[in-house]
Amino acid sequence: MALFAYVNGRYELQRGAGVHIEDRGYQFADGVYEVIAVQNGRLIDEVGHLDRLERSLSALEIAAPMDRAPLGLIMRRLLEKNRIDNGMIYLQITRGVAPRNHAFPEGMKPSIVMTARRLKPFSRSHFRQGVCVITRPDTRWKRCDIKSISLLPNILSKQEAVRSGAFEAWLVDDAGNITEGASSNAWIVTGDARVVTRDAGGAILNGITRQRIIALARENGLSLEERPFSLEEATEAAEAFTTSSTALLRPVVKIDDRVIADGEPGPFSLKLLDLYAAHMERGGEAP
Ligand code: PDD
Repeated sequence: MALFAYVNGRYELQRGAGVHIEDRGYQFADGVYEVIAVQNGRLIDEVGHLDRLERSLSALEIAAPMDRAPLGLIMRRLLEKNRIDNGMIYLQITRGVAPRNHAFPEGMKPSIVMTARRLKPFSRSHFRQGVCVITRPDTRWKRCDIKSISLLPNILSKQEAVRSGAFEAWLVDDAGNITEGASSNAWIVTGDARVVTRDAGGAILNGITRQRIIALARENGLSLEERPFSLEEATEAAEAFTTSSTALLRPVVKIDDRVIADGEPGPFSLKLLDLYAAHMERGGEAP
């Protein structure tokens, strides 16, 4: 079935859809995006994603092209038109079209594009399988909290992961601490059962899945710490896992050539995966 995209007010066949060559997203990566998981027709944690979208837009001084209500309607209409129940929505907003110039004119009309993609429905057995990650130096800027479409260090690191047969690249900062994955957040579980992930700030994207897992961990009485952790601490951890809207939660069983614990997904990772799966089954919004 041919897919439809939403492009600046119109639903168009994705195959031929395009934006202007002087769109600043195309020329400067001057824009932001969101990826929202769709499970059983429900947009998982839509509110969190739209909150973050608004923060990213305002950090870049890009005007929101529309309110939340019409955004939500368009996302649902796009899913309907594409007959997608399980998959994801990609939503991108750029500053808009202007003659190329680093400085931008005031009052620009932002461009908005949405696509939808079908993915296999969630399967516990698939997501319970452990994955390997490699590590790469984190060469990104200091505003990784903005979900910018400028992703060169991320895509180059991910490509190296794929080339070496790994699921993800975890990025290591100059102090030797893991920040996050190329397209996911990084977690470990210590030998004394503390779940640890990097604190939210300019060094990471504050994942919506990350925020949800933190809430679920706390609600379920797990001990949780948001703090930097080193590559060394990670390789000696009892468990590790990585989270994102599309990867959901994947246990990590190997970092570079170091096997984590006994090389099997650990109980905390699997417990949190189950809690997250239950959250999605409930439809994904705040309790
Ligand atoms: N990426 N960190 C980075 C650098 C990311 O790109 C992502 C998500 C995350 C996790 O965020 P969330 O839980 O909100 O998906 C963390 C999306 C999936 C992507 O670029 O396709």
